[in-house]
Amino acid sequence: MQRAPIQVRLLPLARASAAQIEELRHLRNRPEIRAQLFHSHDIGAAEHAKWADSMRDNPRARIYLTLVGDAVAGSAGITGIDAPNGHAEWGFYVAPEFQRRGVARAMLAQLIDSFFADAHMQKLHAGVLEGNDASILLHRRFGFADEGMRPRYKRDGDGRYRACLLFGLTRETWAARRAEISGGERK
Ligand SMILES: CC(C)(COP(=O)(O)OP(=O)(O)OC[C@H]1O[C@@H](n2cnc3c(N)ncnc32)[C@H](O)[C@@H]1OP(=O)(O)O)[C@@H](O)C(=O)NCCC(=O)NCCS
Repeated sequence: MQRAPIQVRLLPLARASAAQIEELRHLRNRPEIRAQLFHSHDIGAAEHAKWADSMRDNPRARIYLTLVGDAVAGSAGITGIDAPNGHAEWGFYVAPEFQRRGVARAMLAQLIDSFFADAHMQKLHAGVLEGNDASILLHRRFGFADEGMRPRYKRDGDGRYRACLLFGLTRETWAARRAEISGGERK
């Protein structure tokens, strides 16, 4: 059965209010989210404000808050933009209460479209921690190719290490995959 895609809006960090940026900090600090990030400590207000300032006019980054209605439902961003070589990395998360409703799919399709709208950009990279099955499946669904792994990448609180799985999406693969992702269908 076809489902209508959920409506999401990507709000550039530079246009977000102080309250929305603080909401983002609380979301990023939720245990279910930070457990899957490379740096999973609890981020305080001063550290978050410093990060937000550093991202605002950064030519190598584009960070967005994802709004569903007025709620901050997630975030997605491109970092490490390497203009001469035409590649960058991305990162994202969705609030637990908004998960499994197509929010990531909708926000990430928009983000990739805007990334490849720049004709110089040829490839988008991702790193996903071992065991993050939702994100691994999402990357494969979007057409990202497996590009290997870095062992012992992230040390969890219990002292155990997790590997980082590497993925890459080319401009050509996205062009071929785009129509399938934009529909509301679920497989
Ligand atoms: C990964 C994450 C962003 C997915 O967000 P979401 O809004 O729930 O994802 P969607 O509903 O749009 O689903 C998109 C695709 O992701 C995959 N997926 C998402 N959640 C999944 C789950 N629990 N199990 C298996 N696959 C899942 C599926 O391939 C899905 O496509 P499909 O529904 O057509 O099969 C979310 O689980 C999250 O924020 N996790 C914690 C933070 C994180 O892991 N960030 C990424 C770091 S690399």
